[in-house]
Amino acid sequence: MKVPTRTLNNGLKIPTVGLGLWQVKDQETFVNAFDVAYKAGYRLFDSAQFYRNEQYIKASIQKLKLKREDLFITSKIAVNNFGYNKTKKSFDQTLDKIGSSYIDLMLLHFPVSILRKKSWMALEEYYESKKARSIGVSNYTIRHLEELKKYSKITPVINQVELHVFLQQPDLIKYCEDHNIKIEAYSPLAHGLPFDNRDIIKLAKKYNKSYAQIMLKFLLQLGLIIIPKSVTESRIIENITLFDFEIDAKDMNQLKKLNKDLRTCWNPTMVP
Ligand SMILES: NC(=O)c1ccc[n+]([C@@H]2O[C@H](COP(=O)([O-])OP(=O)(O)OC[C@H]3O[C@@H](n4cnc5c(N)ncnc54)[C@H](OP(=O)(O)O)[C@@H]3O)[C@@H](O)[C@H]2O)c1
Repeated sequence: MKVPTRTLNNGLKIPTVGLGLWQVKDQETFVNAFDVAYKAGYRLFDSAQFYRNEQYIKASIQKLKLKREDLFITSKIAVNNFGYNKTKKSFDQTLDKIGSSYIDLMLLHFPVSILRKKSWMALEEYYESKKARSIGVSNYTIRHLEELKKYSKITPVINQVELHVFLQQPDLIKYCEDHNIKIEAYSPLAHGLPFDNRDIIKLAKKYNKSYAQIMLKFLLQLGLIIIPKSVTESRIIENITLFDFEIDAKDMNQLKKLNKDLRTCWNPTMVP
């Protein structure tokens, strides 16, 4: 399956669907998931220093004999690696672990107070030296993005945030659209909450699709990039089989009504 791409503000193309890799802890499970995903058409893989599995990307590329340039690899600077020198040092360690001279996208994982500015400066340097093909942020609220705008030379290409049918963040989507920053929706399945919403069940029946596919397609139709995580073969395939149907405008509006500002992960709104 060929997955459509979106173009980032620096011209780089990113697939609209990627594989989330948080909590994929052992090499065998990781390489298996990578293999199934690659064969199903995934090219975007979302890791992080904090996940402690970046080294399995290198193992996957070697074992599956993949071409590095076919892949779009993301990682994130962990909170405990913030600060100018530590960000640079940990960035080099990431490159070493993934076995590549560059990464496609490096994000600041969280808007760590005070240190986030220095870390962003380090990312800009690594972008200029081409060790990162693009740089961005994660868990940034509008306030954090406004602050970043004051001192950054480079606009982040992406803000990766928790976003799903129960946490829709319309103001953040609008702000990012206006500033040419793409939103990448993490925990797009609400981090595995029970699939028991009656409206979504009804729509799944109507479109002859699964509950997960309705949740994911909703986000794609909002114009977002999604990175569902699964290590289960059938689900990995299901989560990318999204391009043979369209949710109509009336049903999109019904799904928009399900927003209840429900966070399943961290809450960055309190970070000064
Ligand atoms: N930047 C950040 O701070 C941040 C925070 C959280 C997540 N993320 C990224 O976003 C990715 C996705 O988020 P997430 O892992 O929190 O949660 P998610 O993708 O919303 O949900 C993953 C859970 O749903 C299950 N699942 C997946 N597909 C399914 C399907 N078709 N039917 C039924 N169940 C299904 C998975 O189980 P199985 O694996 O057992 O199949 C897993 O338990 C992460 O892996 C990570 O890459 C980033």
